[in-house]
Amino acid sequence: MLVRLTYASRANDGVTPEALTAILKTSRSHNLDAGITGVLVFSDVIFLQVLEGGRDAVSGLYNRIAQDRRHRDVVLLGYDEIGERRFAGWAMGQANLSRLNPGVLLKYSERAVLDPYALSGTAAIALFEELVATAVISCPGG
Ligand SMILES: Cc1cc2nc3c(=O)[nH]c(=O)nc-3n(C[C@H](O)[C@H](O)[C@H](O)COP(=O)(O)O)c2cc1C
Repeated sequence: MLVRLTYASRANDGVTPEALTAILKTSRSHNLDAGITGVLVFSDVIFLQVLEGGRDAVSGLYNRIAQDRRHRDVVLLGYDEIGERRFAGWAMGQANLSRLNPGVLLKYSERAVLDPYALSGTAAIALFEELVATAVISCPGG
């Protein structure tokens, strides 16, 4: 059985390039083994992540991520059983929202600043899909 989970969080020390590299490296190697796919988007201080995979695998990973001291205020935005993946192409894709056309953010939120805490789970998924459609997501190194 497949599920999709979306959450938001605040980076504890800001999202430094070093912290991001470390998170993405672990994510890609672990997620590949665990059959998990997804996307991590970030701005200077915010993470927004979607995880897809088997229910046990996603649930276990979310619990681990929620205890990670590199971020706080982890809030579950959405959780669904799904028939198919939407982000199957990425062990963990990445997108820097600070570099995004503000119009994309305005489409889904009240202001052109990412505030995932003001975003519904549905709007968060729509934003992820827009990032996929506009080829904003990358996955250096697979
Ligand atoms: C914002 C954020 C997103 C993360 N995403 C993942 C992920 O997709 N997959 C993963 O294995 N670890 C991810 N991690 C790292 C985990 O929290 C954890 O450090 C890692 O899985 C290693 O866990 P372990 O030391 O218990 O093996 C993420 C951490 C943060 C802060």
